Amino acid sequence: MDAPAALQPADALVRAGQPLVVDTFAAWREAARELLVHGIPPEQVTWGTPHMDDLLSGTAPVSGAPPTAEASHNPSTPPTEPLRPAPHIPRSLMEMLQSAACCRVPDRWAFLYRVIWRWQQGEHDVQSPADEDGARLHAMVKAVHREEHDMHAYIRFRERPEEAGPPRFVAWYEPRHDVLPQVAEHFVARMGKISWMIATPDASVLWDGHTLHNTGPLVRDAADLEQGSKDGGEALWLTYYRSVFNPARLNTEVMHQHIPTHRWKNLPEAKIVPQMVSAAALGARKVGQYEAVGQRKGTTIPIAPEDAQPDREQPSTLDECRRCELWEFATQAVGGEGPKRAKIMFVGEQPGDQEDLAGQPFVGPAGKLLDRVCEAAGVDRDTVYVTNAVKHFKWEPRGKRRLHKTPAQREIEACHYWLDKELASVKPTVIVALGATALKSVLRTANVTLKNSLGKPLRHEGRWVVTTYHPSYVLRVPGEDAKRDAFNTMVEGIKLAHDLLQRPIDVPDA
Ligand code: URA
Repeated sequence: MDAPAALQPADALVRAGQPLVVDTFAAWREAARELLVHGIPPEQVTWGTPHMDDLLSGTAPVSGAPPTAEASHNPSTPPTEPLRPAPHIPRSLMEMLQSAACCRVPDRWAFLYRVIWRWQQGEHDVQSPADEDGARLHAMVKAVHREEHDMHAYIRFRERPEEAGPPRFVAWYEPRHDVLPQVAEHFVARMGKISWMIATPDASVLWDGHTLHNTGPLVRDAADLEQGSKDGGEALWLTYYRSVFNPARLNTEVMHQHIPTHRWKNLPEAKIVPQMVSAAALGARKVGQYEAVGQRKGTTIPIAPEDAQPDREQPSTLDECRRCELWEFATQAVGGEGPKRAKIMFVGEQPGDQEDLAGQPFVGPAGKLLDRVCEAAGVDRDTVYVTNAVKHFKWEPRGKRRLHKTPAQREIEACHYWLDKELASVKPTVIVALGATALKSVLRTANVTLKNSLGKPLRHEGRWVVTTYHPSYVLRVPGEDAKRDAFNTMVEGIKLAHDLLQRPIDVPDA
């Protein structure tokens, strides 16, 4: 292998009038530290980012990475000034710089160096939003955090048939900032041993159940990924296999023991294994990785499925809930809203189209009707905690519209977890079940009917439960008379809920 003579100290490059090319925060930090030690001001430094072609061909321009032992003794780079002590940068600033480094702005490295330089000159205001650079730094950090959050929330994994081989889940995403590595770690913790791949236009990450592999772009767009899934997954599987193949761990005997020879002919990877094995024998093994994974950072995340499992079973936030499949097609989860200690809790069925977009319950047409019912019943909706039995919108496409679909019993049951949390924290005296789904969810049984419960208060687990129509029923029931009757029934139900606040509940459950 070539000696790393191409690596020169950052200050030597700057003195020679060359740009400092860095591609990671770690490389920038090392280069910045050295420039600070040599007292080189920001206006004398030109920063650059390696071109993707250079990275892939291995001919990246001279890098500003830290000097090797050899380079640092290079007599052609004698220090011209006394060295300054290594700067002490507070952790909070370092964390901000690290986040801001993921922000895709063309001058990111130069800007970060200006910030750190000013800090070292004693201008500590540079970290404050009131400072011009500080404001920009805060805005960059915010943009990156938002992108991380969006990627957690909006990435959509598609499950592939088990027989198509790994990865079991694939997703395409076009992040606006360089947040893929941290987002990948989030999914490693969330998805346990299941293999998955996230592809983006600039890079991809693959999780084989044990190790995270960072690679360059593997597919060109979502359609490519889709195609990979449709053609039986072979193209995708080969891509995956190539990327996770590790010649350092290659043991052809074990490989053949695990997969009997007669089976090889039907395995898609059989076509590429000989080529990869020979690449390994020809030196890739020495390097430690097949070239496609040569640039990965190689983080091994020791996560056992049993550690990951509770995380999936008991998501810490509603946004992360994967207790049933509905999350996959919803924009977001919609939790309850209202006073933390409301005496009355309304439970609806599930968010509708508008609630799904707004992230709030009962804000669409059914919500407007509910407002009118509350007004007629003399109950201020703002004093009521309003939620739903199911927290994700279940829908089916009809033309360009998303039509509501009734949730299945298993989806209602999966969401008991969240309703229980809301009941435990709000501790309402009276629950109003709006419609049959809410009633089944609140009473934890599928063996109840709306007809038999309408208007009859029930005692359940130390609370009153009042059943009434769902506002959507009032909106869609045909005929003016039926509509008015249904509306009045709802008004009566809510009045009853209000009256029950005064009635003691010291008798056992019915
Ligand atoms: N229907 C419901 O059950 N809940 C909402 O939040 C909106 C419509």
